Amino acid sequence: MCGIVAYIGPKDATPFLLEGLQRLEYRGYDSAGVAVTGKGAGLKVRKTKGRVADLAAAVPARFKGSTGIGHTRWATHGEPSDANAHPHLDNAGRFAVVHNGIIENADQLRVRLTAEGAVFSSETDTEVLVHLIAAHSGEGVELEEAVRAALKLVVGTYGIAVVDAEQPDRIVVARNGSPIVLGLGEKEMFAASDVAALVRYTRQVVHLEDGELAVVRADGFRTFTEDARPTTRQPSTVDWEIDSYDTAGHAHFLIKEIHEQPSAVERTLSGRLDERFATAHLGGLNMDARELRDIRRVKIIGCGSAYYAGQMGAQLIEELARIPADSEPASEFRYRNPVIEADTLYVAVSQSGETYDTLAAVQEVKRKGGRVLGVVNTVGSAIARACDGGIYLHAGPEISVASTKAFTSTVVAFALLALHFGRINDLSPADGRRIVEGLKALPGQIREIVEKDKEIAELAAEYADCEGMMFIGRVRGYPVAREGAQKLKEISYVHAEAYPASELKHGPLALISPELPTVALVPDDELLDKNLTTLGEIRARAGRVLAIAHTAPDPKLATHTLLVPRNEPELDPLLLNIPLQLFAYHAAVALQRDVDKPRNLAKSVTVE
Ligand code: AGP
Repeated sequence: MCGIVAYIGPKDATPFLLEGLQRLEYRGYDSAGVAVTGKGAGLKVRKTKGRVADLAAAVPARFKGSTGIGHTRWATHGEPSDANAHPHLDNAGRFAVVHNGIIENADQLRVRLTAEGAVFSSETDTEVLVHLIAAHSGEGVELEEAVRAALKLVVGTYGIAVVDAEQPDRIVVARNGSPIVLGLGEKEMFAASDVAALVRYTRQVVHLEDGELAVVRADGFRTFTEDARPTTRQPSTVDWEIDSYDTAGHAHFLIKEIHEQPSAVERTLSGRLDERFATAHLGGLNMDARELRDIRRVKIIGCGSAYYAGQMGAQLIEELARIPADSEPASEFRYRNPVIEADTLYVAVSQSGETYDTLAAVQEVKRKGGRVLGVVNTVGSAIARACDGGIYLHAGPEISVASTKAFTSTVVAFALLALHFGRINDLSPADGRRIVEGLKALPGQIREIVEKDKEIAELAAEYADCEGMMFIGRVRGYPVAREGAQKLKEISYVHAEAYPASELKHGPLALISPELPTVALVPDDELLDKNLTTLGEIRARAGRVLAIAHTAPDPKLATHTLLVPRNEPELDPLLLNIPLQLFAYHAAVALQRDVDKPRNLAKSVTVE
């Protein structure tokens, strides 16, 4: 949610800033801006409503400086506009600030600063920061001291980068609840809110901790706390491939990421299957078998698709380990004063590892003495660090706003956890082997499904202009229906509703008409007959049905059928979901939507 980039070094900062912003645009894309400075050069600023391409077009050739910051925004305070775009400046035009996060006491600070003479030119909470920094600057005051003093007055979350036209030899960055990472170059330094902006320039990075600031100069950096205590940070190496940050010949990141799923799943499984004991090795859990045997309940928390992946995970844990498990939106959990039980294992799910509601839920559990594991894609992210242990997905960076490969890898990680739990409890070696073999078969079977791309594109084009869609599934199929509906509405803006197939006749059957087709998940499992009866009820009301099935139902029951390969019943939901991703993608393309950057959304939601 919003992206920050910064550069200091011997080169002109502007090309890096614009390219970095383009790489971060998936995090926010309603306005963008840059500010550069240099020795005796004053401050140059350009900002505009719209995309980074609009900003690049507005930046003149003479817009140069050796020190610069940039921002791409997802509006929280104030509409997307030129005035509300970052960077924000103080009244003398000396300081420029870019900010991710929310300043909760902005209104009070604004009143106070206005009384002291500051003139505000935007509706943003961020602008108070720059006026505060200006208020704390003065003869001989180092920029880092002014920033530190300003942050002491601020309540809220932030990742910030600040430049000062009178001290152009440095950039000051700070983090509290919104990530900032430094990139170490040769006699030049970078900073960003996400490594995606840095990987073309350096693989050596330093992640700031919450409550930490850094002074970044061309030849190095110094970190310290808000109380001015020095800290020590060792650089780490980013191991994600540079290619992951390009569409590599695909029309969109989304379709690329859908096609990457076989290899993402291979990486999630890599080194974790134990064929001898028919179980999974998950060293990162930091819990031995005895501790796991004491677990009586599993509570999974996450937001959006992460929550739906958690629902699939809960089903796997209940079936394979026979431990009661459920999933709840982290955004609800954190506000309802949850009862934290000693023998409950809490599992937080997040692709980005930054989602604020999920992080706050983890903190709430830990504050009450609970144990939390993370199922996270981004190594070293805030949620990963806040948890007691967990499973990294290793799915590779996910750029498209809609989650696909991370979703699939999350469910695979839950299958591993359920297998591990199950084999510690009562899952037989034979059933363990069945699941191990099923997991091994997944990458090949996902490949088979994504090869049906053309067939699914034709189906999607046929349904894309409908008024809305119903998605139904029973038990294991219900979370698949929810994720399928989520994907469709998120990127195509077609209204989609998910229901347990069993509940249709208790209300939503009234909606069924030729204009509201149904996507039905119809695996060959113990509930097949029940599902076929539901299809009959829909067809009897002239509803069109697209069945996702292992065996084609009678043509009277399904208008269209899309066949998927069969795995073990517990793992089948993973495969049933893949055609729904392709369906949503092609419906969005048919409707000419901005597939990777759907309206009103951003990749990671780091605000409440
Ligand atoms: C998924 O397609 C959505 N963009 C969204 O629901 C997402 O899954 C949610 O915001 C959680 O993100 P996280 O996994 O990064 O925590």
